[in-house]
Order: sequence, then structure tokens, then C-alpha cells
Amino acid sequence: MTQANTTRPFHEKVWNKTRYAFSFIYRKQLSLVYQLDYTCPYGERARQLPPPYTMRSPEKPADLDALASLLNSDGDFGHWTAERIDRDYLQQLIRPDAATLLFHGKDLIGNCGTIDGSSRRHKTGIIMWMIIRTPHRGKGLAKYLWYRTLNFFAEEHYEKILLTTDMQRLPAIRFYLCRRLLPGHESLYSYIQWRITVKRLGSLTC
Ligand SMILES: CC(C)(COP(=O)(O)OP(=O)(O)OC[C@H]1O[C@@H](n2cnc3c(N)ncnc32)[C@H](O)[C@@H]1OP(=O)(O)O)[C@@H](O)C(=O)NCCC(=O)NCCS
Repeated sequence: MTQANTTRPFHEKVWNKTRYAFSFIYRKQLSLVYQLDYTCPYGERARQLPPPYTMRSPEKPADLDALASLLNSDGDFGHWTAERIDRDYLQQLIRPDAATLLFHGKDLIGNCGTIDGSSRRHKTGIIMWMIIRTPHRGKGLAKYLWYRTLNFFAEEHYEKILLTTDMQRLPAIRFYLCRRLLPGHESLYSYIQWRITVKRLGSLTC
């Protein structure tokens, strides 16, 4: 691997199609697309988060270590350090405050970030690193992260949002499909991937 490859932020490796000549045939990850709905009060919905949970943007040096620990807890998000959080995450946001940390009291238990993936024709946002710590899952908390994140994109006049996820992340895929994201087909293989995934999900009751 070259030096340029190792220092390149993760999301560029995933999205930069020119680096993968055959990505139109095969891409490992599933992609999803969401058209921003400017009639939806995303900010207002995010503010309905029940106590003792709170949300805010990263702002303190201590947030870097806590965030690295949270992302490392997933196991499949790669290895994070405070330095990498600053370089590959905070410096890539669509604006300095456009990330959300979710706290239970003082404990950081959730995160979601924004990245610009615009082309010449479309103002496109990418959502990265959405996670809720295991003991707090299944309580409906992810939607508050989701709404606060979409609100950043709406404030910055984005048109659509892209996401990639691994096929085995069924809870995340279920969450996204219930939030009106649509399967993206960026490769021929994705048609097969989505057929398998929809079968695995079974009936979707949102
Ligand atoms: C994806 C993820 C963020 C979802 O977080 P979450 O807070 O558990 O999401 P929700 O609580 O909204 O939904 C999870 C389940 O709880 C259910 N639920 C929602 N609100 C609920 C409530 N008030 N009471 C009981 N259950 C509830 C949902 O219906 C859903 O059930 P289902 O999976 O059977 O449909 C979380 O699973 C996670 O961190 N996964 C690991 C990281 C990951 O995969 N990130 C995505 C990378 S692309």
C-alpha cells in the first residue's frame, strides 16, 4: 500500500469510483440513497430526544478519545485514535459543528457524522459512523441522531444523502429502509446483494 493510500480518509477509499476500475460490477458494500425532504422539521424532531439523553456537536479535546473508544467498540469501523478522529472525521465534516454526539448523562453512547460527496451536478451528502453503544440499542435513539444529522444537510442545502453499509448490518439496514432510504444500485452485483438482504430482513414493519 502506498503512503497516499494509507493517509487517505476512509470515506474517499469507499466512494472514489475512479480508483476501482471494476466497481460498476462489484462493490463490497451496500449503498442507500435518501432524497432530503425540506418539508420535514428534522431539527424539531431531533430536539424531542428524551432525558437523560442529550446531544451536542464535538467541541472538547476529551471528545476525541471518547469518540475513538466508541468507534472502536464496533469492531468493524477500523482502528481509531484521537489523532485519526481529528484527521479522518472532524476535519472532513461539511461544517465544523456538523457531527452529533449522543450522551447518557456524561457517557458518550452514540455518534453520527456528515461528509461532503458532491459531484459537479448534485450536492450530495454522506452519512458516516452512525453508532449507538450496545446497551442503549433498541430504544429508538438512533432516529434522534438521524434527524440532527439530516438537519445539518438541510441547513447546507444538500439535495440527497448517500450511505454505505455492510450486508451483515441488518439492524442498520432495517433502520434505514424504515426511514425511507432506497437501495442504491451502483454495481451490477448490488442487485444480487439487495435480493439476498431483503430476503434476510423478512417482512419489514416500521
Ligand atoms: C444501527 C444502529 C445505530 C441503530 O440504533 P438503535 O438505537 O438500536 O435503533 P432503534 O432503537 O431505532 O431501532 C432498533 C430496534 O429497536 C426497535 N425500537 C425502536 N424504538 C423502540 C422503543 N421505544 N422500544 C423498543 N424497541 C424500539 C426498532 O423497531 C428496531 O427494531 P427492529 O430492528 O426489530 O426493527 C445500531 O444498531 C448500531 O449502532 N449498530 C452498529 C453500528 C452500525 O451498524 N452502524 C451503521 C453503519 S452504516
